[in-house]
Formats: sequence, structure tokens, C-alpha cells
Amino acid sequence: MNKGFIFDLDGVIVDTAKYHYLAWKRVANELDFDFTLEQNELLKGVSREKSLEILLDIGGMIILDSEKKRLASKKNDLYLNLIESLDYKDLLPGTKSFILDAKDEVIKIALGSASKNAAYILKKLGIAHLFDARIDGTMVSKAKPDPEVFLKGAKLLGLDPKNCLVFEDAKAGIDAAKNAGMKCVGIGKSNILKSADLVVSGLDKITVTEALSILKKQHTQNE
Ligand code: BG6
Ligand code: MG
Repeated sequence: MNKGFIFDLDGVIVDTAKYHYLAWKRVANELDFDFTLEQNELLKGVSREKSLEILLDIGGMIILDSEKKRLASKKNDLYLNLIESLDYKDLLPGTKSFILDAKDEVIKIALGSASKNAAYILKKLGIAHLFDARIDGTMVSKAKPDPEVFLKGAKLLGLDPKNCLVFEDAKAGIDAAKNAGMKCVGIGKSNILKSADLVVSGLDKITVTEALSILKKQHTQNE
């Protein structure tokens, strides 16, 4: 089957979104302002550097580039500390069986993440071998909602973007999928992920057959 599933990492495969939030909150607190869960939605799916820009904007802060570098690196150190003991138990419910079911259907599997820590995290989770391709924050120059990450993923899989289905927990990620001409399953809350083709609370709440029907629907629409 010439179809592919492209998975975002943080918040789709693994429960790391909360650690990104906690690390950014510590940085905000060091700068003397608060950072709420609601504001954190703006950072989901967004690169480390762009996340810092958004955070500084929220706090109304203007700082030197050298200080930005220090804060981005501090956030990453805090984050890496928080995920030190991450292992397969942190996989979100249904992740592994969903990917294995997809592989049984000969669907190609890719990772499309903004994270520069993606390879490290996949290794810790023990699922790196399940992916036919990996595009992460070390391989892209434009942050989601730019489609670069997903277009590169489709290219590595050798697939037409319209035959790829993206799984995303971030608004920026869903917009990136749309900008790539791909259908997208939102993982999370439908009031936040309005533009997704379907929203479920997790990969344990969707079957491969249901996911494939989203791609089929597109083909029927285009015929
Ligand atoms: C995304 C997260 O997957 O990766 C963002 O949703 C994060 O919150 C981004 O900022 C970059 O991650 P990292 O690990 O390179 O700082
Ligand atoms: Mg995410």
C-alpha cells in the first residue's frame, strides 16, 4: 500500500508535552512572569527558538541575543532533566499497537517532529526501529506551521503528500499538515484542534481502518 502515517512526537506518541510546559514555566518564573497552560498551547509544536520568542512576547520582555541563547539552553537542560527517566511506560496509550497495526497493513511510518531531542527520545522509548523515516528539529529550517517537516517526511517515505496522514496534538502542527496538502488527525481536544479532519483524545481511540478512511474520503472528493 502506498500510504504513510506521519506522527508528531511530543503529545502524540509520548507524554512529554507537560515537561516542555514545566521547563518553559520555570524560565518564565525566572524572568518574573507567570506562564499558564492556556498560553502553552501557543508553544506546542513550535521550535525551541520560536517558543522562546513567543514566551518573551507573553512576558513583554526584550532581551539580548546572547541572553536568548542562554535561556533556550537553560530550558533544554531543565527539560532533559525532567525526561531523564523516560521509558516505554511513557508511551501514550495505544501508540505502539496502533503503529504495529499500521505496519501490518504495509503503511509506511514516519516521525515529523520539531524536537531536536527526537532521536534521543525514540531510543529511550525503545520504538526507534518502528519508523521508516524520521524528520526532526535537527533537519528542518522552518518551524510548523510551515509544511517543511511533513513534506520532507513524505519525500523520505517516497510518497505523494496526499497519501500521507498526519497525527498532531498542536494547532501549529495541524496547520503545517494542511499547508503540506495532507489530511490530519488531531490528538487532543476538539475545541482547540478545530481544523483537523478528525479529533480523538488519543491513538487508543482510533483504528487503522478509521484512519485510512480519512485518506480514502480525500480520494473520493478528488475524483
Ligand atoms: C515540539 C514540542 O515537538 O518540539 C515543542 O511540541 C518544542 O513544545 C519543540 O518546543 C522543540 O523541542 P526541543 O526538544 O528541540 O526543544
Ligand atoms: Mg506535539
